[in-house]
Amino acid sequence: MLDKQMAQALNEQINKEMYSAYLYMSMSAYSSNMGLKGFANWFMVQYHEEMFHAMKIYEYVQRQGEEVKLEALQAPPAEFSSQLDMFTKTLAHEQFITSSINELMEMAQSKKDHATQIFLEWYVTEQVEEEENDNDIILQLKLIGDNAHALLMLDRELAARATTIPTDFSKGVEAAAKAAA
Ligand code: FEO
Repeated sequence: MLDKQMAQALNEQINKEMYSAYLYMSMSAYSSNMGLKGFANWFMVQYHEEMFHAMKIYEYVQRQGEEVKLEALQAPPAEFSSQLDMFTKTLAHEQFITSSINELMEMAQSKKDHATQIFLEWYVTEQVEEEENDNDIILQLKLIGDNAHALLMLDRELAARATTIPTDFSKGVEAAAKAAA
């Protein structure tokens, strides 16, 4: 059982996660256009992660007998001034998502909705990792500065990032996550 206000807030979070996917897809396209295939790969892996985040909530809302209501997606930015600009925007966006998850958790606590609190714990942990990843890359990009050779070395490193979460949700998100574990 899911309180209507909680269901509405979770539906809004689906939209935020889908926008995150869209934003990182745009960053991937931009990186690809710049000839930075490693950065493009990193953001495309991030796109898949965000789709997984959205689909987990989608499935949770349905399993709790509530309706999934999808809203329009905002268009993401298509131009960035540098790789540092992209990762600075990524971190700012992730900090916004962290606040949003915290607000959901506070709502679940205020409603004594234990199931949703347990469900959201995964997102609380995930956000720490997301912000840490962005901070690490921002530090490296600051060290790199205008050094094109060092930027290409980082590009090669980012090319190695692989998708570790399920991307096929046809059998359900939880089933896919268990199969992939
Ligand atoms: Fe789903 Fe990157 O937060």
